[in-house]
Amino acid sequence: KKRIAVMTSGGDSQGMSGAVRAVVRQTIASGCDAFAVYEGYEGLVQGGDMIKQMKWEDVRGWLSEGGTLIGTARCMAFKERPGRLQAAKNMIDKGIDALVVCGGDGSLTGADRFRGEWPSLVEELVKNGTFKEDQVKPFKHLNIVGLVGSIDNDLAGTDATIGCYSSLQRICQAVDYIDATAFSHQRAFVIEVMGRHCGWLALMAGVSTGADFVFLPENPPSEHWETEMCDVVQRHRKLGKRKTIVIVAEGAHDRQLNAISPNQVKDLLAGKLGLDTRVTTLGHVQRGGTAVAYDRMLATLQGVEAVKAVLDSTPETPSPVICIVENKIVRKSLMEAVKLTQSVAEAIERKDFKSAMKLRGAEFDE
Ligand code: F6P
Repeated sequence: KKRIAVMTSGGDSQGMSGAVRAVVRQTIASGCDAFAVYEGYEGLVQGGDMIKQMKWEDVRGWLSEGGTLIGTARCMAFKERPGRLQAAKNMIDKGIDALVVCGGDGSLTGADRFRGEWPSLVEELVKNGTFKEDQVKPFKHLNIVGLVGSIDNDLAGTDATIGCYSSLQRICQAVDYIDATAFSHQRAFVIEVMGRHCGWLALMAGVSTGADFVFLPENPPSEHWETEMCDVVQRHRKLGKRKTIVIVAEGAHDRQLNAISPNQVKDLLAGKLGLDTRVTTLGHVQRGGTAVAYDRMLATLQGVEAVKAVLDSTPETPSPVICIVENKIVRKSLMEAVKLTQSVAEAIERKDFKSAMKLRGAEFDE
């Protein structure tokens, strides 16, 4: 009987609890034992009660919940070999040799490295007398399957990450709220949204709220951005618009590209156009609230597929990550998806935006 564990790691996102529910229930439905690792890699290193066997009813009601009900943490100990050795011991103690990790690219990379190192960790545990050779015989190979949970939608190779549509919904709701007061006072608002180095949330929020202007890390402003933005805003005002919404992705100024800060935009709107302007940073509200229908569906279908991938895997199969491409749930090589994502980030870092967009698979005019 296979014993499969699930954990969430890195920044939480809406739908992660739904993914845990799906993995637990599909594991049980497949005749295997399900475990949850609490508090991400921290729980794996600590072991004991942090790795808990899960029953069908333990995850009842988790589908719609925001965040992750099994907790998440950034774990320094797991970054060092002694931490990973302890994690391997804890897993063998519980008889677990398959781990489904729901997190961002950093968490998934950590998981794949753990799998690569696994045989040498097991060997060390035998050498140092923790286990006898015959005790570790069933644990020669570690199975890892990735699920991408992040509000940022920043993993190359999948159309949507678990949580990104809930976060987009939160942003739209917040902008709708701001719209009402902006309209009343004929004000301008500069709204900063999350996304790390990825502009997906900002771009889609701009489209979905009818914003006047959007700043993205992947498409930094030209040297004429001040005139361009003011012209657009002025044109909209002349058409009778009583409010102005400018969305700034956090990555558009954090990354020191052509660094545009929300306050710079505010000063320009106020100084050049004479608009009464406020800045709103939406912050962690974007990671809160319940999961929208899309994320519940994605978490469930992908969680089920993750368990199937565990059951199909052999020591030779590279760790898969479960993606969605053109509405189909597919398995891809975890490390290839992570490498591609890192290449996108590097291309953005060196301001090679065309390559970044091409690597993401976007079509655009040369
Ligand atoms: O990756 C998710 C995310 O919310 C990013 O959009 C943001 O940059 C970051 O995490 C914030 O991290 P923290 O919650 O640690 O402040």
